[in-house]
Amino acid sequence: MQNQLTTYLSAGYPGLAVVSSEEARAESEIASVCTSLNRRLHAWSSSEGLADTKEGHVTACPDPLDALQLLDGMFAADSPRHVVLFRDLQLHMDQSDPMLVRRIKDILRIAKTNGHSIILLGCRLKLPPELEHEITHVDFSLPDNNQLGVVLDGILKSAKLKAPHEAIREAALQSALGLTTTEAENAFALSIIETKGIDHKIVAREKARTLKRSGLVEVVEASTGLGDIGGLDHLKEWLLRRGGAFSAFAKAYGLPAPKGLLIVGIPGTGKSLTAKATAGAFGLPLLRLDMGRVFGGIVGQSESNLRSVIQTAEAIAPCVLWIDEIEKGFSGSQSSGSTDGGTSSRVFGSFLSWMQEKEKPVFVVATANDVSKLPPEFLRKGRFDELFFVDLPDVQERTQIWDILIKRHGRKAKDFDTVALSRACEQFTGAEIEAVFIDALHEGFADGREPKAKDILTAITNTVPLAQLMDGQIAALRHWAKGRAREAAGRATPAPRNSRRIAEAN
Ligand SMILES: Nc1ncnc2c1ncn2[C@@H]1O[C@H](COP(=O)(O)OP(=O)(O)OP(=O)(O)O)[C@@H](O)[C@H]1O
Ligand SMILES: [Mg+2]
Repeated sequence: MQNQLTTYLSAGYPGLAVVSSEEARAESEIASVCTSLNRRLHAWSSSEGLADTKEGHVTACPDPLDALQLLDGMFAADSPRHVVLFRDLQLHMDQSDPMLVRRIKDILRIAKTNGHSIILLGCRLKLPPELEHEITHVDFSLPDNNQLGVVLDGILKSAKLKAPHEAIREAALQSALGLTTTEAENAFALSIIETKGIDHKIVAREKARTLKRSGLVEVVEASTGLGDIGGLDHLKEWLLRRGGAFSAFAKAYGLPAPKGLLIVGIPGTGKSLTAKATAGAFGLPLLRLDMGRVFGGIVGQSESNLRSVIQTAEAIAPCVLWIDEIEKGFSGSQSSGSTDGGTSSRVFGSFLSWMQEKEKPVFVVATANDVSKLPPEFLRKGRFDELFFVDLPDVQERTQIWDILIKRHGRKAKDFDTVALSRACEQFTGAEIEAVFIDALHEGFADGREPKAKDILTAITNTVPLAQLMDGQIAALRHWAKGRAREAAGRATPAPRNSRRIAEAN
């Protein structure tokens, strides 16, 4: 943040905003920028009033209107250049007090003329439209490795513990990336209480819990690899060839970190499975983002939710950010102007620009079933490195899926004729194959024996595959994918089964 803040203050920006729940760290960075630029820093809060941080004298003024009144006198042309920090001013703006908005605009005008600035600091910020163009956002990232190192050293010192081995320290710091300083401090403290030392597994566990509580992103501990996916050879090959692209060696080679992958396809064909396996294949941590939760909550929350997700992912980077069923989150963006005051389109726009411009190695794997809900801008080149279409598995792919799933459920594939089974379940997805095998396991268990081919074949006969029920949608999806998306499987797209339906879908 310090560089950005220095630039804005030097350029005479009168109104800035820092959104962070880490008040103490943000204030200390703001103070250090003010010192280096020789600006007088004052801080206002409703409980303390307006304090001159250098001289130490405080003027009681719980009402922000009174504080702004005081600035009138302070922000003179011939006075030293001041920076005034307002804590939690958002709480006073929630009621859209017209007088407050007007006073802020007046003071911003005086500040601009005479070279002073105000900074709004709080954990959220939703400006009224009258102020939206007057106040500039300053990015405040989560603490990096070095900053977390200071926190860790401090806590070890206060617990009178020796510095751990460098590798242990580094692992703990890596595990804490994505947390605020306070959260990291808590995780380190917990590790000390539980183990009398620093254990990166405890720190990672606490991070997973903390992020989960936020309800937006979740750390997924997936032990899935590319070997767990049957078929999808082109997609697996693509991932394999990019596996090394996040290394220091690749960076030195001049390779930009891959941006991401969009996987579109029929339900149950292994899209989510592939997202999980991507993290395994790249050897990176996996974060799952619930796009539905980014939207919602209080007005103005969506923007800060997205900002917080990006901050977390960038702090943990390199990592894989998995967004399942992305169309559900963004589907409102096309019509949102009339339904939610444009929030969805704005958040969607911010997400797209982040996708395009992000420099931190956050690899986004997004999955979608319903392409009709995806806005066209989403599919433009430059957002994702590749767009894959996952079709129903063919007979060879189904055989591979049978082999993998039988093994995953603790049985030996060689005990079954998986080629015959795969011929018997034409049009089945991987998810349906798994459901059929689980049915057979239930039959075997109920009779006190192992599942037999007969159980599986009965379950197949009793199943109407989704592909039959969704014939029209699947045909339309295949048609859409032609020329737009790469076939995930190592074969040509099968000929559409129902050309009349495709014509209708057009
Ligand atoms: N190609 C495959 N190889 C191995 N297992 C598969 C495959 N496809 C599906 N499965 C099995 O089916 C389960 C469900 O698949 P998954 O959740 O990845 O499908 P999906 O395409 O994401 O479906 P949806 O669109 O409904 O979210 C997987 O956990 C896995 O057990
Ligand atoms: Mg899925």
